[in-house]
Amino acid sequence: MKNISVAIDGPAGAGKSTVAKAVAKKMDLLYIDTGAMYRAVTFLVLKEGIDIIDEQMIIDIAKNTTFNFSTDGSEIFINGENHSKEIRTPRVSEKVSLVSKIGDLRTVLVNAQRKLAENHDVIMDGRDIGTHVLPQADLKVFLTASVEERATRRFEELSKDNQAESVSFDAVKKNIIQRDSIDSNRDQAPLVKAEDAIEIDTTTLRTNEVVEEIIKLIRKIQR
Ligand code: DC
Repeated sequence: MKNISVAIDGPAGAGKSTVAKAVAKKMDLLYIDTGAMYRAVTFLVLKEGIDIIDEQMIIDIAKNTTFNFSTDGSEIFINGENHSKEIRTPRVSEKVSLVSKIGDLRTVLVNAQRKLAENHDVIMDGRDIGTHVLPQADLKVFLTASVEERATRRFEELSKDNQAESVSFDAVKKNIIQRDSIDSNRDQAPLVKAEDAIEIDTTTLRTNEVVEEIIKLIRKIQR
């Protein structure tokens, strides 16, 4: 039987990973967080002190790095080491959109993402999944929410991880607005809703409401 694939795209803080993880668990799908891979490369770039304009070095890092996820998709292992917390620091968030603009880096990571998805029922989240990584996905969802709400969610996440002391709410909001702009205006595979994607505005919805809505949509395509 053909594997099913679900693409979840949308801007930062729209709830993609929380929702995708919960849907994956309930529907027994493999969850792949592609943002974590761009973050992982950015983490390595900062760790090695590489200049963002040194694109070839960044591409080489990505080529020589292995990415593995825990079974539920919530932890990422970079060359075998768990760096799930480090990839979500404000320092990485500040630079990740600039790293993600590098076209040839995207090609390397997109190939790795397609490989991870091979022979599995998958739910993959990111910015270009429905438009570029899995254009034949059986279901495409585009999640949105107001900037204020998205910043609130990100700030709460940072507070839970004890990282909020190093950053203000306004700084988190500014970073989200900046990332939206860079992610939406880059040349290769920008953040854009696929024509055949179903848009869900999550501003006033609870996580479980969004999860249930997506499960309903998956059940429809399984019929
Ligand atoms: O989903 P996230 O906020 O963790 O993603 C971090 C950054 O990675 C995001 O600002 C843009 C980039 N990204 C991308 O360019 N393409 C993807 N498929 C996923 C993320």
